[in-house]
Amino acid sequence: MASTASVALYPGSFDPVHNGHLDIIVRARHMFGRVVVGVVTNLDKHALFPVDDRVAMLRAATRAHPGIEVRCFDGLTVEFARRVGARVIVKGLRAMMDFEYELKMAAMNKRLRPEIETVFMMTSPEFAYLSSTLIREVSAFGGSVAGLVPPSVARRLGRTARLQAR
Ligand code: PNS
Repeated sequence: MASTASVALYPGSFDPVHNGHLDIIVRARHMFGRVVVGVVTNLDKHALFPVDDRVAMLRAATRAHPGIEVRCFDGLTVEFARRVGARVIVKGLRAMMDFEYELKMAAMNKRLRPEIETVFMMTSPEFAYLSSTLIREVSAFGGSVAGLVPPSVARRLGRTARLQAR
């Protein structure tokens, strides 16, 4: 059983999961005994994929990795962190664009639950400009996202784009 300090929560919307997310998840797992990937439910009305599908895509993409658990949550991230026994919230930082937004969230989370630390990991350079928003846009216009998302997610995006084009 992993100790409390070695449990990390990686929260996000994952709409859909891409290879930049997976890079952070796997690298976080090298540092923590257990990584809980928390898929936020409360953006559902704006999401391309319902939360159950986002969770299923993440579970399929992380199945080969022990110590990684995918769960959905609503409400505050820090409260979910407490529920799963995580003292650390892991966030990925890409180039400059994430910094201000992430700093604000980390400061607010610290204020809400001072005992929970936010740890930032730099996204690997090959994924520095990757985002779920770009993936959705490229796919919606028929572009290839192969190599940027797991193959099952690419297939799923292709099906969704074809349905929307009808
Ligand atoms: O993948 P995203 O969209 O960058 O993830 C943002 C997420 C889900 C981590 C953030 O919106 C969040 O923590 N939402 C849960 C509600 C909450 O705790 N809000 C206060 C954050 S300071």
